[in-house]
Formats: sequence, structure tokens, C-alpha cells
Amino acid sequence: MDELGRRTILTAGLATALTACTTTAPASAPQTPARFDPTDWDDVRALFPLDTNLVHTAAFVLAAHPKPVRDAIERHRRGLDADTEAYLHEHGRAEDDVRAAAAAYLGGTPNQVALTDSTTMGLGLLYSGLRLRPDQDVVTSTHDFSAHHAALRLMSERTGAPVRQVALYDDPRTATESGIVTRLKEAVAPNTRIVAVTWVHSSTGVRLPVPAIAAMLAEVNAGRAAEDRVLLCVDGVHGFGAVDLPVAELGCDFLATGTHKWLFGPRGTGLLWGRSWDALAPVIPTFSGGDSPGALFTPGGYHSFEHRWAVREAFSLHDRIGRDRIAERTAIQSTQLKEGLATIPSVTLVTPDDPALSAGIVCCEVDGMVAYNAVMTLRSYGVVASVTPYEQQYLRFGPSIVTTPEQMDRVIDAVRRLRP
Ligand SMILES: Cc1ncc(COP(=O)(O)O)c(C=O)c1O
Repeated sequence: MDELGRRTILTAGLATALTACTTTAPASAPQTPARFDPTDWDDVRALFPLDTNLVHTAAFVLAAHPKPVRDAIERHRRGLDADTEAYLHEHGRAEDDVRAAAAAYLGGTPNQVALTDSTTMGLGLLYSGLRLRPDQDVVTSTHDFSAHHAALRLMSERTGAPVRQVALYDDPRTATESGIVTRLKEAVAPNTRIVAVTWVHSSTGVRLPVPAIAAMLAEVNAGRAAEDRVLLCVDGVHGFGAVDLPVAELGCDFLATGTHKWLFGPRGTGLLWGRSWDALAPVIPTFSGGDSPGALFTPGGYHSFEHRWAVREAFSLHDRIGRDRIAERTAIQSTQLKEGLATIPSVTLVTPDDPALSAGIVCCEVDGMVAYNAVMTLRSYGVVASVTPYEQQYLRFGPSIVTTPEQMDRVIDAVRRLRP
């Protein structure tokens, strides 16, 4: 067969393949087991391939993939492996679907959503792109993750604008909404352009009252010109998927989050949400077509599309189970855990009792034990916990949809058995 003939057959084959793709079920249609009941927590937990001999209170650190997400990744992987060019072509608008699913969850529009690989990438895009004058300043807190502070430092080096850190509470256990808002209000200066905070502190488990902070800043901004308004920038990763509050209602201007923690989306996925993108310039050229601002701020480059496109299934699963039910399930278990840990004489709780000032993260100290040793011993008891990755290290738990109230009793018993 000559070259032209071979090419004709290949082209015909590609057309057939494309037709097959478009006429069969959408490649990313949500798939859950036939008898899956989203109101049954056993069914929800059965979607995860996690080792059932262990209590997974560190599952939020990096998600295990639930079955619909795993299936979608596998489906896309097979398609990409079989005929990469055709599959990419066929899925040219798949990111739009993900951004639409994200927008439905976030409460805004797809134009407000840029897709990223992580919280850290979102923070990097945000602080590398924000237009800032050297005479403006930035207020952040002492409680944020190292990547957040590093991104702010890089912004400061780029723009000459100084960054000030303030403590929003002295003792996390006794933090209050008014105390936090007052500390921030006092820190905001006439030239402050950015307030950079974290929704739920992975250092202590404290959840910031972001809507109250936004309301305070709205008053500060009332007399300011658009280019001098304080922008509220939030690392939202430990509230996103754990708290029943749409991001669009938080009142912030920007929120960066991974979708690979409490949402249990594909590893290596996240998003940056912007109320408006006016203050921001894109940093990485996009590959996403169209004129949607969200697409413009989505970094381009070929990458792990099977993970990015499967974020849709994570939102779909979360919606089916119900954001309110997930948040309630998380809060019930974290309250139960705090109440149980409080009865152990050797334990000092760090996270506030009030569910309004906390979310899924529960931190504590055990007398005479460094957190790392406590984590190691707990693992030998079948409990997977983590250490806060900060200078001050606490023992940290994160009950979620993959754990149960019965398991929280097991965690409490295991902590009771800890000996220095
Ligand atoms: C508050 C906070 N922000 C950001 C991150 C990093 O998230 P990502 O892996 O999505 O960049 C972490 C920890 O992983 C964190 O605790």
C-alpha cells in the first residue's frame, strides 16, 4: 500500500474513532457502583480503597481516590494511551466542564475559576500576578502554611512592597471571632493592599471567620479608590470540601485551594477562584482557548489531563453526598474527638471546641511526647494521624467522610494508651 493510501485509512480510522467517542456515553460521565446510596456512609467509605485495618485521620493530607474519580482517571488514561492525539482533540472542552462543575460548587461562574495543580500553585499564580506598588503593603498572619509565606516573600521581592505578619490569637484554644477580626483590623494600615490569610489553620485547626473579616474590610474599603482597596486573599484548602459555605459567599477576593484534600479529588489538582481578575496579570501562558478569564488564568502546558478532567467526578460525588451532610459528618466527628481527648489528663487540646471556629482538623499535645513519636505509636495501634508541619509541632487528626464516629472512639482509646 502506498503512503497516501495508508494515510487515507488512518484518517478514516480517526474519524470513526472520533464519531465513536461522540456517540457513546460521555467519557467523563459520573460512575458509581450500581447500588451506591449517597446517604449511606458505609457506601461512601466503600468507594475508597483505603486499608480497612487502619483509622485514616490523615486522609485529608493528600486524597485517596474514590471509585468515580479512580474510574474517570482510568478511562481518560486508557483513551490518552490508545490514541493521544484523537483523545486530546475530542476533549478540547473538558476543562470547561471542570470549571463549570467547580463554579456550581463554589457558587460563582466558570469565569471565576482557574484550574491549577495545587493550592501552592494557586498561591504562586496569585501573588506573582497581583499588581502591587512598592508604597503599598501586605498583612498576613503568623499561622499560615510555609508555601503561603514563601509566595508572599517572592511577591515582596518582586514589587518592593513589605509584608507584615500578625498573630490573630495568642492561644488557639481561646481564639474568638471578634478577637481575630480586631487583630486584623488593627493591623490594616492606610496603604495596606493585601490581607492574606488561611481559612482553616493546619497549624492549630482554628477556622477563621472569613465572612466577618470580609465585612470588616468592606468598611475599610468604603472610602478607597479601586487601586487602593484591600484585597482579601485566602488559602482555603482545609475549609474547601469540609465546611458548608460556598466560596462565593465567603466575601474574599481570591481563594486558592487544592481539590486533592477534603474534596477527595484527583491528586495534583486545585483551583484559584477570583471574584474579579482585574488586579491580577496571568503568569503562565494558558493552553485553554476561548476568552473566559478563568481559562486565561489556567496555566497551560501538556500535563496530567486524566487527573485534571476527573476533578469533575469529585465535584459530582460531593454534590451527590451533599456538602451540608459532609460538613456535618466532619463536624460531628471532630467534636466527638475533642470531647473525648479532653477527658484524657495527659492531653492538652489546641483546637477550639466551637465548631464555628474549627472544621475537620483537631490538634493536641500529649504530655512528655513529641508529636512525631505519638504518631508512630498511634500507627502501631492502627490509627493514622499526622504532625503539624510547622515549627510548633502538634499531634493532628482529621476526621472526614472516610472515618466513622465508632472509629473516633478507637482514636480516643489509642491516645489514652500513649505513654512517653
Ligand atoms: C494551609 C495549607 N495550605 C497549603 C498546603 C499545600 O497544599 P497543596 O498540596 O494543595 O499545595 C497545605 C498542606 O499541604 C496546608 O496545610
